[in-house]
Order: sequence, then C-alpha cells, then structure tokens
Amino acid sequence: MHPTKNDLPSKVRAKVIGILGDRLADATDLMLQTKQAHWNVKGATFIALHELFDKVNESAEEWVDLIAERIIQLGGTAEGTVQATAKRTSMKPYPLEITSGHDHVEALSNALASFGKKVRSAIDKTGKAGDADTADIFTEISRDVDKYLWFVEAHNQ
Ligand SMILES: [Fe+2]
Repeated sequence: MHPTKNDLPSKVRAKVIGILGDRLADATDLMLQTKQAHWNVKGATFIALHELFDKVNESAEEWVDLIAERIIQLGGTAEGTVQATAKRTSMKPYPLEITSGHDHVEALSNALASFGKKVRSAIDKTGKAGDADTADIFTEISRDVDKYLWFVEAHNQ
C-alpha cells in the first residue's frame, strides 16, 4: 500500500481495499455491459431502451469512479484496465447475440440485480471492518442500483 496520513488502521484499509477492488472490477464490467445493451438493442421499444441503457451507463461510470477513488484515498491502487477487470470480475458474461428489447431488459436487469446484491453485502462488510465512509459510498451506489434495476425491469413486468 502507498503511505497516507489517513488515520484508519492499515489492517482496516487493506481489508477494505480488497473489497473495493472486487467491486471495482464488477462495476467496470457492468459499465461495459450497459453499453453493449445500448448499442445492440432493436425493436419497437428501441429508443426508450437505447436512451435508458445510456443513462444506466453514465451512472455506472460514476460508481466506478467513486469506488476507484476510495481505493486511492485508502492507499491502494485502482486496477482499471480491461485486462485486470476481466481477471477479477465476478459478473456473468453479457450475452453477445441477443437483440430484442425483452432479452436486453432481462440480461441487464439480471446484471444489475447481481451487482446490487454484492454492493449491499459490501455495505455490511466494510461497515463491520470499521470504515463507515466506504460503507456510505456503497450505500449511495446501492440506492442508485436499486433505482435503475426498477427502471429496467419494469419494461418486462
Ligand atoms: Fe450512444
């Protein structure tokens, strides 16, 4: 870890950096999955979904930035390359062949729900580890993920 005057004990910072790194890979993967959906969706609901998926992408980029910058604040290194992300992500691969709005809504809502579950668990883990600020960052992200899961899955309900 890099030296910092941050007063959180280094043991706490090391543990939290590990959790943040795992979620950074997932968030970066999800950010690209939203673009995959944005570009490839077709059908009668095209424009609504094309625009919604881009909004989710913009939010996912903010989640990536929040997580990465917290890693740096704690003395860690943010691993933001495609190669590092591919190695570390725990997200299921996004299907490349789907085109219909229904299928993209299904695939992206699955991805958001899976990411949301992991972020919620990260709130607990980082809070229990003794870093209330990281838990707060994950809480902020979790609220946003829940909102976009609603926006996306409502199309198939
Ligand atoms: Fe675009």
